[in-house]
Amino acid sequence: MSLNILVVGAGCAGPAFAHLLQKVSPSHNITVIERFSSLRTGGQQIDLKSQGVPITKGMGILPELKAACVHETGMQLVDKNGKSLMGFGINSAATGQGFNLTNEYEIMRGDMVNVFYDGSIAERQKIEKNGGKEGSLTYKFNTTMTQFTQTENGVDVTFSNGEKQHFDLVVAADGQNSRTRRTTFGDDINEKSFRTLGIHGAYYNIPRLESDDSDARIHFAPGGRMIMTRTGDRPITQVYLFIMRDKARHEHFKSVHKLPLDQQKEEWANTFKDAGWQCDRFMEGLKNTTDFYAHELGQVHMPKLYSGRVVLLGDAGYCPSPFTGMGTTLSLIGSYILAGELAKHDKNIEAALQAYHELMQPPLEKYQRFFGGSNTGFYPSSQLGITVTNHVLWALSSLRVDKLMLWMGGWLPAKKDDWKMPVYPGLSLVEDTKE
Ligand SMILES: Cc1cc2nc3c(=O)[nH]c(=O)nc-3n(C[C@H](O)[C@H](O)[C@H](O)COP(=O)(O)OP(=O)(O)OC[C@H]3O[C@@H](n4cnc5c(N)ncnc54)[C@H](O)[C@@H]3O)c2cc1C
Ligand SMILES: *[C@@H]1O[C@H](CO)[C@@H](O)[C@H](O)[C@H]1NC(C)=O
Ligand SMILES: *[C@@H]1O[C@H](CO)[C@@H](O)[C@H](O)[C@H]1NC(C)=O
Ligand SMILES: *[C@@H]1O[C@H](CO)[C@@H](O)[C@H](O)[C@H]1NC(C)=O
Ligand SMILES: *[C@@H]1O[C@H](CO)[C@@H](O)[C@H](O)[C@H]1NC(C)=O
Repeated sequence: MSLNILVVGAGCAGPAFAHLLQKVSPSHNITVIERFSSLRTGGQQIDLKSQGVPITKGMGILPELKAACVHETGMQLVDKNGKSLMGFGINSAATGQGFNLTNEYEIMRGDMVNVFYDGSIAERQKIEKNGGKEGSLTYKFNTTMTQFTQTENGVDVTFSNGEKQHFDLVVAADGQNSRTRRTTFGDDINEKSFRTLGIHGAYYNIPRLESDDSDARIHFAPGGRMIMTRTGDRPITQVYLFIMRDKARHEHFKSVHKLPLDQQKEEWANTFKDAGWQCDRFMEGLKNTTDFYAHELGQVHMPKLYSGRVVLLGDAGYCPSPFTGMGTTLSLIGSYILAGELAKHDKNIEAALQAYHELMQPPLEKYQRFFGGSNTGFYPSSQLGITVTNHVLWALSSLRVDKLMLWMGGWLPAKKDDWKMPVYPGLSLVEDTKE
């Protein structure tokens, strides 16, 4: 049976889902809408790992992702003068073994989004070349839903350009602050679903200097401020600013994210101008940058991943926060399972959505967790004070140095990988998962 499906958001999850769904069900009509007038390619290095690897391999886009990888050499903690306090290299003298600080697949978010988008379009072309006449894939930019009403067998949607259309299913892939989630589930559930880490982050790029090598660098400034740079083998230097462990600033920055971009930048500049290290350069670069992105860090935990014919995908449904490094991988797992279950249950969309909700619970349980502890236990309560150990742990976690952490004292228990992805005919991942 072919369906009319609307995907809201062309970030990572939207295009990846469109790609996978076409693979199992080429006869669906898929429309992807994106609020921005082009692909939104901002963002910094993001990870592709665990099940994300076989999934993208099955999609046939792993070579493109590999080619886009950023290569980092190590990480250094620096003081206010930029002097290295501690360094972690690729080859650790301590263990005599080489281990890579960063993940196998570290890719700039913009490159990742482009690869997913191109992949979804190439899949359509492949279907048409092989004589597929039914089904379609349409991207509409600068488009949002201004209104949507659930009916017995679907959703009546009004778009921002005034057009109206009926869909059998709406897939909300509109990110951490999903408007579709809020409208569908209501303000109350929406607010409760967001578990803040009490941390705010801003990310942007500045020109690389000759003196920049390919190590990541982290500096902890007083007042719960942290600055990280990552350059790798890129012509740009990524700057990450974090505010943490400061209640007043936390409250203040909640409202900063709603300000116009220029004012947001000004707030960040005021907060970091005296943070030492190369802050003059970073604040100058902040003024110039065109790819500034800031948010409150937290996780989304929804009691249910769908309501009627609206289903949540990716960060919209289960943002794990950047500190887990699992956002993109989880959105791929979700895309894979949702596409697979829709195909498996054919006419019964309700059953497919329920199966998706249930099958997502084990990977969510596993990957939304920090340090193997509880979801909220990651951010130690303030009475513990700011200790260097915490800082180091925190910094390492943001780089996802799993192996290093294991070695440093077994904070991250080696959990048996007891969860296996379901297998679907049509999503030829069987041999791919047996790496
Ligand atoms: C600009 C940007 C920068 C990011 N930078 C980082 C980073 O540096 N590190 C990190 O770990 N994670 C980052 N993320 C989050 C990361 O992309 C996700 O965790 C992960 O890839 C899952 O992707 P997603 O598609 O679910 O959400 P997202 O990648 O957030 O994509 C959501 C998409 O939906 C669009 N959208 C939002 N609202 C609407 C609407 N109402 N109608 C239509 N479209 C809408 C957005 O413009 C966006 O294109 C960033 C996200 C964005 C949008
Ligand atoms: C898909 O689109 C085609 C072309 O517009 C249309 O003929 C067909 O009925 C649509 N299918 C569904 C399920 O809406
Ligand atoms: C580190 O990465 C390099 C290059 O990708 C690879 O050849 C090497 O095997 C990796 N080392 C470890 C210990 O994973
Ligand atoms: C975006 O859409 C709005 C409303 O449909 C329209 O007024 C505006 O001109 C569009 N902008 C671009 C850049 O296409
Ligand atoms: C910012 O832009 C100005 C004017 O274009 C330029 O002179 C300056 O070098 C830029 N600074 C950085 C850090 O890129």
